[in-house]
Amino acid sequence: MPRRSACGKTHRRSLVGGDIELRIEAESFRSFTEVPDQRLSPPGEPPAALHDGTDEPNMPIKNTREQWGTVSKLLHWLVLLLILMMAWIGLRMGDMPNGPDKIASYALHKSVGITILALVLARIGWRLYAGAPDVVPGTPRWQERTAALTHLALYALLLAMPLSGWILNSASGFPLQWFGLVNLPAIAGKDHGLHERAEDIHEWLFWAMVALVVLHAAAAFYHHLFQRDATLTRMLPGRRSRVERLETPDA
Ligand code: HEM
Ligand code: HEM
Repeated sequence: MPRRSACGKTHRRSLVGGDIELRIEAESFRSFTEVPDQRLSPPGEPPAALHDGTDEPNMPIKNTREQWGTVSKLLHWLVLLLILMMAWIGLRMGDMPNGPDKIASYALHKSVGITILALVLARIGWRLYAGAPDVVPGTPRWQERTAALTHLALYALLLAMPLSGWILNSASGFPLQWFGLVNLPAIAGKDHGLHERAEDIHEWLFWAMVALVVLHAAAAFYHHLFQRDATLTRMLPGRRSRVERLETPDA
């Protein structure tokens, strides 16, 4: 018989399907990211890590109703790394002494910024095509709405940051090359006033993004540490988390 956990839900899960069925209480699992025991698979069947008894692969490419797929995860964490790199270069390069290193830093900043713009456009396209997982069960409605608004604002900032950089570069009259390979056109005429305003906007957008990302990451860690749900782990690289498995109604 399926058993009830402290949260009142019934958690029953067939890890290998067929003859062997494991019934698990949610509270018996403390780890969020435990990997299924591959030895549970009977001879001739795929290991549990590749097949967990559902029709869903453990590491789908496309987003499913329960978890983020590989493409969305990859783009999310890659953009985070590139933004950190941009912050590091952007905040230092203005104070560097004039010379080849400063020119190289500006060139790198612009090229990586254009790369981020392309990745974010790809990410938005993929998001429209692949959709997003359902909200983790039990999330209050206000949190769901706040998260949706925050994500929308983050996407807007991810577009506005490189575009304002492109505008400020165009208004200053400097050429724009992508890693020395492709010449990109100016998207605004040379204009000192516009350059000054775009520079201010570029900087303010950056600090707005920092503030929002801090809130966003804090919310993810809050879910992980206090709500103890799968909001964070289903965005992490790797297989489906145990908690999420347990939360998925099986029968
Ligand atoms: C997500 C992408 C980007 C991020 C996170 C970013 C971040 C930054 C930061 C933190 C600064 C320093 C602001 C300050 O303290 O004054 C900066 C400056 C600058 N950025 Fe970006 N940037 C991005 C994209 C771009 C792009 C695509 C370009 C050009 C095509 C660009 C061109 C510049 C320039 C020219 C400056 C120096 C402005 C000055 O002279 O004060 N940025 N950026
Ligand atoms: C340590 C830093 C970060 C953590 C822990 C984190 C965590 C997460 C998690 C867990 C989700 C999935 C939320 C859900 O399923 O409802 C998510 C989504 C998202 N994150 Fe982050 N994130 C971080 C940094 C960033 C940064 C730097 C950006 C962009 C500037 C960003 C932009 C987004 C966006 C736009 C979504 C929504 C995805 C969508 O609905 O298409 N995140 N993040």
